[in-house]
Amino acid sequence: MPHTTVDFRSDNCGRAAPEMIAALHAVNTGTELGYGGDTLTAALQTRLTQVFETPLRVYPVPTGTAANAVALAASCTPFGAVYCHAQAHINTSECNATGFFGGGTKLVAVDGEHGKVSADALLREIEGAGVGLAHKNQPAAVNLVQATDMGAVYGVEEIADVSRVAHARGLAVHMDGARFANALATLGCSPADASWRAGVDLLSLGVTKNGGLLTDAIVVFAPDVAANIGYHLRRAGLVWSKMRFASAQIMAYVEDDLWLRLARQANAAAGGIAQRLSALAGIRLVAPVQANELFVELPSAQALEGLQAEGILFQRRGPRLARFVCRWDTGESECAALVAAIERQLGTATTPQANGAPS
Ligand SMILES: Cc1ncc(COP(=O)(O)O)c(C=O)c1O
Repeated sequence: MPHTTVDFRSDNCGRAAPEMIAALHAVNTGTELGYGGDTLTAALQTRLTQVFETPLRVYPVPTGTAANAVALAASCTPFGAVYCHAQAHINTSECNATGFFGGGTKLVAVDGEHGKVSADALLREIEGAGVGLAHKNQPAAVNLVQATDMGAVYGVEEIADVSRVAHARGLAVHMDGARFANALATLGCSPADASWRAGVDLLSLGVTKNGGLLTDAIVVFAPDVAANIGYHLRRAGLVWSKMRFASAQIMAYVEDDLWLRLARQANAAAGGIAQRLSALAGIRLVAPVQANELFVELPSAQALEGLQAEGILFQRRGPRLARFVCRWDTGESECAALVAAIERQLGTATTPQANGAPS
């Protein structure tokens, strides 16, 4: 049996889309000003203004962490509090880059189902924050992760509910859109409806995970909220000098809806796996599979170890909890191999070693 890689570790593990590579080749000509003074970066401003149907500023940055941390630093005071879900990437996986770039900004975890900040819980937290007390960090921003860190997708109304609570109390609304395209593909609405029209002031727009190479971006819809963002970025060393190559990726990303096509492929792979798994007894999807990630509780730690022993690549998120992430280039054979391996671990497989699973 040929050895097949069955890789559900992360959407970072996938290839770059050929369109992205082609875009880099296409822009590799002539001379251009650096640091965003080039014609392509100017064209990108115009293009994203069309895509999002509103005036905006876009700042290509190297990573999603940079996008999150600088977007929040630029919209908060150093003594500000940023409200986020306990599972939010800024809270679990960014070494408190928000606090570092923010000069002391504090993260405050807010409850909510499936990785979503609940508007009611946010309100309770803000009301108990000690507004005006010099002893306390002052409410400054809320962070929503779209799609969430548990694979769910905020509905437009849910975003608007949180935004209303935040804006009424002077907080900025930041969306960590590392998987914004995956969420958008699920919502089926316009980029505008999924962001600024629902109250989002700043968006970290993910590109790398969904077929890009080396760039994400900060999109600022509310310039007053992050008036000094250019200085924050430069001081942090986060302004590409050959910006046109970063901008070329983002241009290609939105061209002909490439971002949605890639996201739909990843989402379809995850949805297909979810459908097959939901027919199996003994496992639980801990959150609805609405984008390209599955969080699956298996009956025992041994079952997870069994999957690992079979060569299935994934992240363990708890003794019995596995995270499987589908990439834009996840193939059907990989999906089938994963489901077959899980069936074997559950003892329900009818065709052991079927579907090209690694032996
Ligand atoms: C939800 C979310 N936000 C932000 C990031 C950060 O991206 P990067 O690793 O490019 O800094 C990730 C990466 O895994 C993520 O999953």
